Amino acid sequence: MRRMAVIGGSGLEGLFEGGERATVMTPYGSIGYSIVEERGIELLFIPRHGFGHGLPPHKVNYRGLIWSARWWGTTHIIATNAVGSMREEFEPGDLVIPDQFMDFTKSRPTTFYDDEVVHTDMTEPYSMEIRDALRKAAEDVGHPIHHGGVYVCTEGPRYETPAEIRAYRTLGGDIVGMTGVPEVVLAREADIEYATLAAVTNYAAGMQSRISHEEVVELMSKLNPVLKDVIVGAAEIILEED
Ligand code: HPA
Repeated sequence: MRRMAVIGGSGLEGLFEGGERATVMTPYGSIGYSIVEERGIELLFIPRHGFGHGLPPHKVNYRGLIWSARWWGTTHIIATNAVGSMREEFEPGDLVIPDQFMDFTKSRPTTFYDDEVVHTDMTEPYSMEIRDALRKAAEDVGHPIHHGGVYVCTEGPRYETPAEIRAYRTLGGDIVGMTGVPEVVLAREADIEYATLAAVTNYAAGMQSRISHEEVVELMSKLNPVLKDVIVGAAEIILEED
């Protein structure tokens, strides 16, 4: 059976239903997952915050997530992230496939290499193979998608101030979220092909009157069917080529 891992973000805990839920004990703690079959592809679905959205962004077990994909034997991970947009033309409801990130997190474990000196190349943090497949799949589905963008990762769990957003935009950021890093870094360290499908749920702080988690989760839930189609479509493209 052809296989792919999917990490689902806020509002997407129910993205793939029907699979039996289980947990795997990793060296970093336990990870909940389910295995589902879509269009002849076996998907390891891992809700980033756990089933039921229990873990805040700074407490997510990022190392456990990536470790569990490795344990399952997959070479590819497609992730999803809810993001705020720092650019007018990236509208709420649009999808973005970032190609770069900037890390403004503060307190999370960010590496598998705590006891040896390993410096991992980050020239191309997000897999070009998966990004291309995501773009093709989104075009097939006919949903607005932006290919390329700089993902700014903040520590959270609070949203940003408008002053911070102005600064991030000046530095070259396009979208902002709280969970993209260190996930992508750990995937690079583990030599797993990884890319993320970011869904714009709101304009960033200062660009709209206020931001609420309810609004973010509501829009993500609305985008569920599109995200699912794009992810499974991309998985088909990737696994066909392999
Ligand atoms: N900021 C940070 N994280 C987010 C946002 C935001 O505006 N929207 C969704 N996740």
